[in-house]
Amino acid sequence: MNKKLIAGNWKMNGSLDDSKGLIADVVNGIFGSQVLLEYCDFLVCPPYLHLYAVRHALHGNDSVAYGAQDCSAAANGARTGDTSAEMIADSGCSHVILGHSERRQHHGETDETVRRKAEMAHKSNLITIICVGEKEEERDLGVQEEVVAKQISGALPDSANAQNTVIAYEPVWAIGTGKSASAEDVKSMHGFIRRKLQEKLEDSNKLRILYGGSMKPENAKELLATENVDGGLIGGASLSADQFLKIAQAALA
Ligand code: PGA
Repeated sequence: MNKKLIAGNWKMNGSLDDSKGLIADVVNGIFGSQVLLEYCDFLVCPPYLHLYAVRHALHGNDSVAYGAQDCSAAANGARTGDTSAEMIADSGCSHVILGHSERRQHHGETDETVRRKAEMAHKSNLITIICVGEKEEERDLGVQEEVVAKQISGALPDSANAQNTVIAYEPVWAIGTGKSASAEDVKSMHGFIRRKLQEKLEDSNKLRILYGGSMKPENAKELLATENVDGGLIGGASLSADQFLKIAQAALA
């Protein structure tokens, strides 16, 4: 059985002390239930400024990986406010989330931007979590597969493979709304994504496809048991160690 990737996207939340407390609680929870590590890989993506505190709190404990929520498409230089993939890798991160719908919405990111960022991230040996997903009106029109197919073909660079890339299917209408997609819709979309990846990559069957969008302890068991769901990208519920670990426990069943 492939291990599920249980990934927390902390977004722009919490104080430095909150992040320190959260990572300590996550690590203690895993320590108290080590069987989780047989079924799950763990990742947390704190705000950039809290990455060092998380790294420090982990003291080299590799039961939880950590990553960033974005990176620049440029290697270095005059990019005020940006953070390069190399800096992220240098700070000990293994992963970077790219193309989250909040970045597409608030920062005008396009598939082309995401592709360039992913290329940079791969050059720095980061694993990219590339987010795709349709908006509510697109689902209402029934064009969700076209939307996601376009995002995959536009955002995945030639450097992508199953080792350095994860896809997160996050329907925009399910993010932070408490309304997750149904297991049936997730099964159908993840199957579709798998077929799309097969056209593009040789090792596509090994590439993880995560579901994200209001995943919580109550719906995690069903979602994580769905075909082609290799883990979750969890926003709100990842801010509580208890909820985050209960989601992981749901992968055991
Ligand atoms: P949510 O966020 O779990 O709060 O819906 C998921 C995400 O945006 O990655």
